[in-house]
Amino acid sequence: MMKPTIYVSRKIPNEFFEPYQNDWNVEMWHEETQVVDRDVFLKHVQKADALFTTLTERVDREALDQAKNLKVIANLAVGYDNIDVEYAKEKGIVVTNTPDVLSETTADLTFALLMATARRIVEAEQFIKDGKWTNWAPFLLAGADIHHKTIGIVGMGRIGEAIARRARGFDMKILYHNRSRKEKVEQEIGALYSSFDELITTSDFVVCMTPLTEDTENMFQAEEFKKMKSSAIFINTSRGGVVNEEDLYNALKKKDIQAAGLDVFQNEPIDEHHPLLQLENVTALPHIGSATYETRSKMITLCLHNINQVLKGNKPITPIL
Ligand code: DGY
Repeated sequence: MMKPTIYVSRKIPNEFFEPYQNDWNVEMWHEETQVVDRDVFLKHVQKADALFTTLTERVDREALDQAKNLKVIANLAVGYDNIDVEYAKEKGIVVTNTPDVLSETTADLTFALLMATARRIVEAEQFIKDGKWTNWAPFLLAGADIHHKTIGIVGMGRIGEAIARRARGFDMKILYHNRSRKEKVEQEIGALYSSFDELITTSDFVVCMTPLTEDTENMFQAEEFKKMKSSAIFINTSRGGVVNEEDLYNALKKKDIQAAGLDVFQNEPIDEHHPLLQLENVTALPHIGSATYETRSKMITLCLHNINQVLKGNKPITPIL
């Protein structure tokens, strides 16, 4: 019997494929930091039985229409806005993502970014390395308190819950907004359900955790930033498309809000000359929410398990429904 062909659109260490070496014919884009050329990707989509993709590959109608044998797309992310899931479903192709395994790690990073932004950690480090530390001063690099403040989490999924648990440790008041109420989170963590408007007007930290969909695209615009406290700190570790970046820039520039911590951007990688990156009150990271060795390894392993399940005619572990 012919072995199924798996196309892996980014360099992944060989050791992850060892359990499948007798079962699969693995083809790979052998660059770690460079996105696969579109024409190379499409060529492989034509013959692959399974695709292992990352969030940089657009698996849209054009790509899906090329597929002749494709049974499963395993996306190395919890977000899947890079894939036309509805169209894949119409074609009988299973799409999977990597929930759960990255929740705690992404919450760690989100909290680290929140703290770094509030306490101006990156600015302070640059200050000392630039030799600017001439003396102690009462308000030198003073930031904002975190403990006992109000955090508003927009999108209470698994990562949102993990952020809320961390916030509880800082004695914060926790507000959340979500499509549906989460009674378990309210009881166990003490988070309070809030309307979107109330959340953005009363929170000291507005943390955006909602996935990018047609409904959430540009959810944070000038009007939303104006409603926030002038001392508010905006954190985004979900997807850049949820925010209108020009409006965020203006809000930060005019001090409608105090600062922003951003791990995600509308266009990634963001250009180093982008206006947002020129602001002192922006702490920026290159989309590293789930980037630890442990978690990325679990995500890769889960993708491969999902592929294996589908190719064997079994149910995938984490399908996108
Ligand atoms: C995700 O999982 O969606 C992250 O953004 C990539 O790790």
